[in-house]
Amino acid sequence: MTDDIGHLVHAPAIVPVVTFDDAAGAPALATALVAGGITSIEVTLRTVAGLDAIAALRDRTDIVVGAGTVRSADDVHAAVAAGARFVVCPGLADEIVSAAADLAVPVLPGIATGSELLEAWSLGLHHVKLFPAETLGGLDAVRALAAPFPEMSFMPSGGVSARNAREYLSHPAVFAISGSWMVPSDAMRARDWALVEQLSRKAVQQVAT
Ligand code: 3PG
Repeated sequence: MTDDIGHLVHAPAIVPVVTFDDAAGAPALATALVAGGITSIEVTLRTVAGLDAIAALRDRTDIVVGAGTVRSADDVHAAVAAGARFVVCPGLADEIVSAAADLAVPVLPGIATGSELLEAWSLGLHHVKLFPAETLGGLDAVRALAAPFPEMSFMPSGGVSARNAREYLSHPAVFAISGSWMVPSDAMRARDWALVEQLSRKAVQQVAT
């Protein structure tokens, strides 16, 4: 099972979740994130621009580019063909995990319950996305789910923000956090890369030990 996402997503272990309306902004956005200290990015497939944005960033050596909102084996194939180095899903599906394994690409399925976590563990995975983290109870949900699965590492996502980022990352079972708070939709629309850089730098400083 390909599950080495921990090698791709490392300090500061903050993964901005970015949805592009226009892939033309991808290089400048990535540059702003990197300037703020970010080392990885999850580009969602929620818009048609997602795959083009991944392709526009595929040769960057300063940021690791993954695909988010991956919902099928076809999405896995398309994302990897575009250049995604990891894939993130809102839920857990065998066909997605298998497709990623076939392509030797790390996959991070979303889990929200003990049953889903058990299934991910049964599939040989050691890393999952906890989604939607705040709705599930935040750090209390991490604590409750991590207790019976000491082998599992979590990336809480959904409602993670400057307010709770440090708290999440302080838990030993949390290997990364992700979210859109560094790339607000207003800033994306206005191409306000200075604001993205500022929010990124603040996030990185907040979680620095
Ligand atoms: C997602 O997949 O949408 C992420 O979990 C981001 O959630 P957020 O917008 O609440 O940060």
